[in-house]
Amino acid sequence: MLELDNISLKFVSEEREHTALKEINLRFDAGRMYALTGPNGSGKSSLAQVIMGIHRPTAGRVLYQGEEITGLGITERARKGIGYAFQHPARFKGLRVTDILEIAMGPGNDHECPYLRQMGLCPDDYLDRSLDAALSGGEIKRIEVATLLAQDPKLRIFDEPEAGIDLWSFERLSGVIAGSHRSDTATIIISHQERVLNIVDEIVLLEEGRITAQGPREEIWPLLSDTERCACRRDCPEGRRASC
Ligand SMILES: Nc1ncnc2c1ncn2[C@@H]1O[C@H](COP(=O)(O)OP(=O)(O)OP(=O)(O)O)[C@@H](O)[C@H]1O
Ligand SMILES: [Mg+2]
Repeated sequence: MLELDNISLKFVSEEREHTALKEINLRFDAGRMYALTGPNGSGKSSLAQVIMGIHRPTAGRVLYQGEEITGLGITERARKGIGYAFQHPARFKGLRVTDILEIAMGPGNDHECPYLRQMGLCPDDYLDRSLDAALSGGEIKRIEVATLLAQDPKLRIFDEPEAGIDLWSFERLSGVIAGSHRSDTATIIISHQERVLNIVDEIVLLEEGRITAQGPREEIWPLLSDTERCACRRDCPEGRRASC
């Protein structure tokens, strides 16, 4: 369904230059669920945003259903069936929850309530609320996931869907994502959580912008639990010092 062919991504600003993704080659097939995991800052969200067309890769190609889409923007990719639930969802003053769900569902659909209920939100309480700063972090995150479920794209990317969601809702979240996955859908979940990693077919491990492991969950999971990692990504001449 989606192929990343030798993707690299460099961020350049006045203060620094940073290569967030280095020569990434990956394939996501319909009918399979994938987890993208790795330490903070390893490039997971950047990779998702290259797939969504938010960042244009510095090198490499993105192919979707055999067609090169590297030059396409977010809207065109969304029309083709690619969807992304942000790690840090935006708030839009003036837009209500019902508006964003209607946009996601497309014309002719007006059954937005089930998506909110699935995410543990009562439609009567939320449909008319504005997507502004008055919503709590967990509420906005649940609405973001509900919006992607309502959009129901062929390729779905959930960026840390569990972040900020309380334990009770988290219990249901992986069930909702797995339950809405179909044989013609590819689902990518960015996560650090064992419960989420347990529902996928394949795990991709990203470290410092490179893929360092990928394969069936049963093969990759033991590697993850055995690895002791240093949170500091710089070379540390004295090895694992307390300051590293
Ligand atoms: N727009 C940007 N400009 C400059 N640097 C950026 C930009 N976006 C991300 N980065 C940097 O690229 C690296 C990868 O960031 P990214 O958000 O992809 O990490 P991540 O794996 O999603 O981390 P986390 O687990 O914390 O969400 C980080 O070092 C980050 O600071
Ligand atoms: Mg991230």
